[in-house]
Amino acid sequence: MQLEDFIQDVARGAGEIIREKYQKLDTWQAKGSRGDVVTEVDVASEEYVIGRIKAEFPSDGIVSEETGAQGNLDGAVWVIDPLDGTKNYTMQIPMFAVSIGRAEGGVPNAGAIYDPIHDEMFYAQRGCGARVNGRAIRVAEEKTVDDCLINVSWSPGSDCANFIKYMEYLSHRTAYFRRFGSAAVVMAYIACGRLHGYMQAGLHPWDAAAGIVIIQEAGGMITDFHGKPIDLRNSNIGIVTANPDIHAELMKEVIG
Ligand code: IPD
Ligand code: CA
Ligand code: CA
Repeated sequence: MQLEDFIQDVARGAGEIIREKYQKLDTWQAKGSRGDVVTEVDVASEEYVIGRIKAEFPSDGIVSEETGAQGNLDGAVWVIDPLDGTKNYTMQIPMFAVSIGRAEGGVPNAGAIYDPIHDEMFYAQRGCGARVNGRAIRVAEEKTVDDCLINVSWSPGSDCANFIKYMEYLSHRTAYFRRFGSAAVVMAYIACGRLHGYMQAGLHPWDAAAGIVIIQEAGGMITDFHGKPIDLRNSNIGIVTANPDIHAELMKEVIG
């Protein structure tokens, strides 16, 4: 199977596991930090994804949310969020996805984000463009932040004071804030132009791996808060992403 068919097939299979239990699940557990929950569905989806990857690419490394790192991390590494948006899932809010990226040296080269409720498969491979359900996608074309739809989010405790400043600045420019509760879905929506900008602190590599390559292949810019490329080998990831014009404005005027 070609890499692109493989990743999408695995993401779809995980999506079926997630969809099958949606609205039927009534237990979840708190994890280490506040606001972090896990369910049996996160675990089942992750077991399925890891099993498929180990069978097809036995020498690749794996970094996944619920199991951590395994295998050789010096070559190709799969970076997996088996269910991004678990809180939404448990609250029966249909905004969550499975996210699977394949990276090398901290840089993702292929990735899929699959939203099983809306049956949307976002996929990109470096140099080949980004698609949703096979259709080519591009980031939005807006030139300034005025009236843009901006998603702003941060994890508990991370950089709260700065984010309040960013939101204050932005609130004079746009009335359209969103916070969806699934970084992967937000990144997919940036890539296809449904959202204009996204700023978030406190992400993990698995939240962002697939989204980075999908956004870049859709013509978007994505950096950390210093304007530097994101390295998935870091555990605490901040992202600023939009089309190149909006990204430049966010970096210069909002973050400063
Ligand atoms: C979370 C979501 C959320 C983001 C958190 C993530 P999870 O992932 O992507 O939008 O704000 O930082 O941890 O726990 O649902 O996989
Ligand atoms: Ca996540
Ligand atoms: Ca998750």
